Amino acid sequence: MSSLPETSPVTVPLLVSSKGKDRIAMMTAYDAPTAALLDEAGLDVLLVGDSLAMAVYGEPNTLSATMETMLRHARAVSRACRRALVVGDMPFLSYQTDPREAVANAGRFLSEAGCAAVKVEGGRRVLPAVEAILAADIPVMGHIGLTPQSVHKLGGFKVQGRASGAAEEIRQDARALADAGCFSIVLECVPEGLAAEITEQVAVPTIGIGAGPHCDGQVLVFHDVVGLTRDLRPKFVRRYADLSGTIRDAARAYAKDVRDGSFPNAQESFSDSSKPALRRIY
Ligand code: KIV
Repeated sequence: MSSLPETSPVTVPLLVSSKGKDRIAMMTAYDAPTAALLDEAGLDVLLVGDSLAMAVYGEPNTLSATMETMLRHARAVSRACRRALVVGDMPFLSYQTDPREAVANAGRFLSEAGCAAVKVEGGRRVLPAVEAILAADIPVMGHIGLTPQSVHKLGGFKVQGRASGAAEEIRQDARALADAGCFSIVLECVPEGLAAEITEQVAVPTIGIGAGPHCDGQVLVFHDVVGLTRDLRPKFVRRYADLSGTIRDAARAYAKDVRDGSFPNAQESFSDSSKPALRRIY
């Protein structure tokens, strides 16, 4: 039987105790209507990822996401959710410069945006910030392997941890984050064997993206899942819908109806008489 609640909110302690019992289904969400649908569909965790810079704003990487943008989207997602745990992604330079600033910024995701937790990229190198945020009782999700905010240092979006030295660094990062008190750890683009080992070794759930089937949960970017991503199609993405086609067809049909005069028709227009039923606009 599932250890996560069916209708009541998924909390951080429930998620931690689900390890070894439930597989955690997580997806990104950036706006209220989408978040409401994903929440209704039973996603356990919704991540307001800084990937919104790419998926929503069309940027080439995540580095331009700001605190203000992240908070605005995170608030929209939180307001729409009844059950899913909402995690706010801390953007580039909101936690790397100073642990005190990291705590203040992390706190804003809870107090202003209604999130239950934040996500931070990096392992031991960001431990001072992670520890400071945790000391303020703000739950932290770690994120190691391919950390997109390090795209320029890494030389692109590439699989990490293939060489034995690099794999050991990632293992040590995972242990350090779990020991510090992170409630879960995202493993992005690492070999499946390494992800399996880490999942075995740490007491908190691992959430994979391009990390194979042995993690405790999986996360994908919403736009990739529903076929709204135009150019990049990473190997690890499974596409469950083709919304690009659906939206293009709907837009073409609308434009045709406008041009040939078949939209709007009489039912879609207001008459001059003031019948009560017609006074309601929505
Ligand atoms: O920003 C994001 O969407 C992420 C996930 C891909 C894990 O960090």
